[in-house]
Amino acid sequence: MEKYVIHGGKPLHGEVEISGAKNAAVAIIPAAIMVRGVCRLENLPQISDTDTLLHILTYMGARVNAINRTTVEVDCTDVQMDCLPEEMWSLTRKIRASYYLVGAMLGRFGRACSTMPGGCNFGVRPIDQHIKGLTALGADMDVSGGFIRAEAGGGRLRGNTVYLDKVSVGATINIMIAAATAEGRTVIENVAREPHIVDLANFLNSMGADVRGAGTNVIKIRGVRQLHGGTYALIPDQIEAGTYMAAVAAVGGAVRVSNVIPKHLECISSKLREMNVEVEEGDDYVLVRRAEPLRAADIKTMPYPGFPTDMHPQMTAVLCCAPGRSVMTEGVWSSGRFKYVGELRKMGADIQVEEQSAFVQGGRRLTGAVVRACDLRAGAAVVIAGLAAEGTTVVEDINYIERGYQNLVGKFRALGADICCVDEPDLPGERTLGWIAG
Ligand code: EPU
Repeated sequence: MEKYVIHGGKPLHGEVEISGAKNAAVAIIPAAIMVRGVCRLENLPQISDTDTLLHILTYMGARVNAINRTTVEVDCTDVQMDCLPEEMWSLTRKIRASYYLVGAMLGRFGRACSTMPGGCNFGVRPIDQHIKGLTALGADMDVSGGFIRAEAGGGRLRGNTVYLDKVSVGATINIMIAAATAEGRTVIENVAREPHIVDLANFLNSMGADVRGAGTNVIKIRGVRQLHGGTYALIPDQIEAGTYMAAVAAVGGAVRVSNVIPKHLECISSKLREMNVEVEEGDDYVLVRRAEPLRAADIKTMPYPGFPTDMHPQMTAVLCCAPGRSVMTEGVWSSGRFKYVGELRKMGADIQVEEQSAFVQGGRRLTGAVVRACDLRAGAAVVIAGLAAEGTTVVEDINYIERGYQNLVGKFRALGADICCVDEPDLPGERTLGWIAG
């Protein structure tokens, strides 16, 4: 089993280049099913979630051609599949974004069938708002036995007004994709405003769709008959950038985080400044330098433009390094988001969780331990803690991390961190670091 081994305490210096946004990529790749023609996608992140989706599209009959490490051409002209067969179920059940295949197949063929999605386990992850939206567009939805089946009356969706009862990134994206080729006008109210929502709208528009208002809380879509091919470059990953910024804050040093859109990072930058971290913005980079001492802070996660929930675990790792009492309150997910707390405690962190808040007594030096990546961002948090800790940290279950971070080890090593990926057999009951020393 592969693990990361980290010898902590080395300040980070240099430059890190941020990859394309995971949560834009996992929406745009399924949306390519709607397009008859070649979509050239640039700045795609090389992560396992995008590989999985491209694999599913290839199985469905798409021609997928890798031009270079970050550019792929996807041609779904000949795709005819509106029901994913059993061979694909292990993949669709592995990732969250597989439910966008339903919106895309429904938009393109008027019918769709797939499994319920997977993804990070935050407890209950309902999809009622997806169902509500697609039903409003005229789809007959059946969610039972672990499957989602959808059929548009008359073979084509019809535009309608949909009010989301809960701000949902996934529901906003799924309805947008499906409505792009629906008959007439769709208005989606109370939508999510994350940067990747705007990126998906820009992608659809560059393929001939008519989507307006993305980035505000109402999106209006005039359905077009079909989408055509084109070229689209994805935005950089807000959360990957924030993760490296958080690492500098926790570990110390000075790093230029490049290929970013500084505006997307404002919520993170301003919180770090409050904690006495210098953040200087350039056109497409931010310079992050930790000053002394790090200050405690209170943070509450919210939908964009609020502080992102996907930065919650990483920022709690930073709060552990700031002397004094800090509070991290989760405003998007349930208690399932706090699974990283047990791992940070193994490293000596003083964190108490009550309801939706983690109370952190920071400033005590963390110490290396054997820890798990409980989910993608929980994994990033233990890596940050390991980089800041004294001694050796081993991170297990790194497959979660590799779903969303391109070349995390290589990027941290280039900044001077002592981190490597080792492939060691699991010995029953082995929980010590002896095998590293030996
Ligand atoms: N919700 C409902 N009903 C729904 C959909 C969502 O009640 O039909 C609730 C959820 O339970 C949650 C809240 O609404 O409390 C927000 O959920 P949302 O739908 O926005 O989340 P998602 O689309 O499932 C995406 C990202 C997550 C990120 C959230 C919030 C993808 C593939 N995933 O999930 O990213 O945490 O938005 O920003 O885009 C990650 O990248 O690590 C990750 C988990």
